[in-house]
Amino acid sequence: MTDAADVDHELRVSKIRNGTVIDHVAGGGALTVLAILGIDGSTGAVVSVGMNVPSDRLGRKDVVKVEDRELSQEEVDVISLIAPAATINIVREYDVVEKHRVERPGTVEGVLSCPNHSCITAAAEPVTSRFAVLDDGVRCVYCETIVREDLAAYIDV
Ligand code: CTP
Ligand code: ZN
Repeated sequence: MTDAADVDHELRVSKIRNGTVIDHVAGGGALTVLAILGIDGSTGAVVSVGMNVPSDRLGRKDVVKVEDRELSQEEVDVISLIAPAATINIVREYDVVEKHRVERPGTVEGVLSCPNHSCITAAAEPVTSRFAVLDDGVRCVYCETIVREDLAAYIDV
């Protein structure tokens, strides 16, 4: 049996034929997911977004559906930092052919910029940024600066 929340949800954001559904993003995270994917409206990508839709598991969730695109591992790694409960669904001919929970990587390289302006990663000939992933944020492996809040502001992909 389909419950009322599911019916609501389906009415709000329709199914896609081919592409990727990023599901179970915490409420409000959809815009950050779009930023991570470089989607700003000028790219021509066909995208549907549900924000704060009812969810059994999260209470409220965001959903992002990107047609005709699969995500790189790097993109999924960055999404995991801001949406640890997210599910990545690959859809082909209307069927979900792959579904996986995001996994937080041990480190992320070249995707976040260090907020410390004296960090070696911000030097004139910068080295690639590298952050250790913590339970509640990330730590620059070069200068030990920890970023917990507003990670999205430091995304550099
Ligand atoms: N979806 C879609 N287009 C399709 C198939 C699925 O947009 N052709 C979306 C669904 O709306 C849902 C997500 O992809 O947001 C996962 O679909 P499915 O596995 O069918 O849903 P659930 O069983 O509810 O998934 P979960 O158990 O991960 O919550
Ligand atoms: Zn640093």
